[in-house]
Amino acid sequence: MIILGIETSCDETAAAVVENGTKILSNVVASSVELHQKTGGIIPEIAAREQIKCIIPVINEAIKQSSNITINNIDALTVTIGPGLIGSLLVGVETARTLAYVWKKPIIPINHLQAHLYANWLISENSAPQFPVIALVVSGGHTDLVLMKNHGKIKWLGGTRDDAAGECFDKAARVLGLGYPGGPAIAAEAEKLDASRYPLAAKLPRPMIDDDNFDFSFSGLKTAVINRVKEQENKRVKIDMPQFAFEIQEAITDVLVAKTIRAAQKYQVKSILLAGGVAANSRLREKLSNHPIIQSSSYQLFVPPPKLCTDNATDIAACAFFNYQPVPWEKIKVEPGLRIC
Ligand code: KG4
Ligand code: ZN
Repeated sequence: MIILGIETSCDETAAAVVENGTKILSNVVASSVELHQKTGGIIPEIAAREQIKCIIPVINEAIKQSSNITINNIDALTVTIGPGLIGSLLVGVETARTLAYVWKKPIIPINHLQAHLYANWLISENSAPQFPVIALVVSGGHTDLVLMKNHGKIKWLGGTRDDAAGECFDKAARVLGLGYPGGPAIAAEAEKLDASRYPLAAKLPRPMIDDDNFDFSFSGLKTAVINRVKEQENKRVKIDMPQFAFEIQEAITDVLVAKTIRAAQKYQVKSILLAGGVAANSRLREKLSNHPIIQSSSYQLFVPPPKLCTDNATDIAACAFFNYQPVPWEKIKVEPGLRIC
């Protein structure tokens, strides 16, 4: 089955063609990140206006790049309905609804956060995650730990009580003047650290790391970062950027790894999945893969390539294949506040 996916939940405009939920035939992403870099963050109105301009060229390009595929070979359309920015979501949803009507194709509405999970089915056509699965979904606006017993059977175990992990990276980068998006900027600074300069000096908190639940909280960590920056400014001491960035990254990733491993142990799962933009973070990926529990047990760890962690439409198409529930196009509407399940 060939599915054309459309994704416009944040500032990206993406379209992709995927075969049987596992084989990427094309993956086109247009981003307006350069415009948002000027303002230090996304201005929703500007993002949506850019998306209106490029949605049709992006869809055309996705079909063109998937060799031997024409509109006739496409079996179904799918689109992100939420969560996300309302103006941005509307661009994708209205375009997809119109195409489904004109082309007379089935259309499947998809939850963006559930779709992130499906990047793990696109890593290889030969090895799919085995259920039950524990998945950590870490994006710009969400941090959720879920238990998947099968496709469509997702149980929410916990999530952030305040800021998301990605938001913490983005806000920390902003106070440090590292620009937008903050995650890759902090990661790039941290990479410059000379490992011989341990131990860590700032001793940032690891909020809720030992709590007996699967919730997270990153706002205290964000405040600790802001306080530390002010303190250094008052003392007129220049911040050692690579070291401080490394410490921030360590604090965030320590909590994410500890809770994910604990959830995997509690629910005795077969596979552990990483998903969402923050899953592109190489330190998070490294810490999970090298964790003694992962090394010494039979868990299968799935970590999508960074390009499939951040927003794109391949995972929307994969999610629609494994959760194939078409809806009449007239009934599809945006749901900006959708939760993962
Ligand atoms: O999933 P995503 O692309 O968009 C949303 O659905 O939100 O996630 C975006 C988030 C941003 O907060 C960005 O800073 C973060 O993912 N991110 C990273 C990295 N790449 C993207 N965070 C840490 N390290 C990275 N390499
Ligand atoms: Zn996302």
